[in-house]
Amino acid sequence: MRRIRDLLVSGAVLLLGRLARPRESRGRIVAEAPANPRAELVVAALLGAASACAAGFIVVYALDPRTRWLGLAIGLAFAFIAAALLVSGHELVVVEELEEDYPAQEHLVDQQRVEQLLEEPSAQLTRRRLLKLGLAGAGSTLGLALLTPVLSLGQFLETNVYLGTPWRRGRRLVDENGRPWRAGDIAERDFYTAFPEGANDEELGSPLILVRLPKGDLRLPPKLRGYDAGGIVAYSKICTHAGCAIAMYRTPLFHDAPRPALVCPCHYSTFDPATGGTVLFGPAGRPLPMLPIEIDARGDLRAKGNFDGPVGPAWWGVRLWKANP
Ligand code: FES
Repeated sequence: MRRIRDLLVSGAVLLLGRLARPRESRGRIVAEAPANPRAELVVAALLGAASACAAGFIVVYALDPRTRWLGLAIGLAFAFIAAALLVSGHELVVVEELEEDYPAQEHLVDQQRVEQLLEEPSAQLTRRRLLKLGLAGAGSTLGLALLTPVLSLGQFLETNVYLGTPWRRGRRLVDENGRPWRAGDIAERDFYTAFPEGANDEELGSPLILVRLPKGDLRLPPKLRGYDAGGIVAYSKICTHAGCAIAMYRTPLFHDAPRPALVCPCHYSTFDPATGGTVLFGPAGRPLPMLPIEIDARGDLRAKGNFDGPVGPAWWGVRLWKANP
């Protein structure tokens, strides 16, 4: 306890002494390094060039995130910083050699002397500030440049812009020519592509796969009951692995063949249309989103709402998804 108290008192005395004593009153112990304005200017210019290159990276990324100029900009930023550190290390850092023994630190006077050894003289403050400013500028712009690609990971807070689809209750299913699909058009053992009537076919959430299964073969989970229209089921055409279009339909041609399945040609993810698009095989990590459909009085197929889950390749934000009404 006594030792701790002594240390605290010593620290307080040292601090008060530093505050009370004007810097000018301390005599120099280490000889002042000769001014080298040319080297300082070179270092400041190199750090400024590094900042400009890092800022250039951000601008280029905003204009075209897939250009090779990105690599050049960030590479030059690092090269300029390395050059600035080399020049300052070689030309500006004071090197001092002391031959006397290092004094014991518990003596206040000696401690003050050691502190002075580590301090730059007041005449060099301007130079230090200049270099600090340059380093801070280069470091912050470089940090921003390195963080910029995070924007490509997707929107962080408002994900509905990616997750909304054109499908709404009552919207008709049409073919690529805008002709409404009728329930009678959909035969077993075949598959059809459908789009939302009057909406943009190019949207990720637009294209559907339609297949008809024998009503008794459907084994939809409770949350998807009522999603089919007399055995016709509708799924997003976009594979949940990496976003390719589902373009194959495997139908059994003999008695004990595997049951019908929707197959993605890219990496062969295979989905079961009878059980809500569950994954039977392949790298896809979640089922195909299913669209609830119904047959209207004229026999046309219409949506009863939006998909039961997010459309397209999996990414972290899918968990934030909420279905449109
Ligand atoms: S994109 Fe469909 S399996 Fe990979």
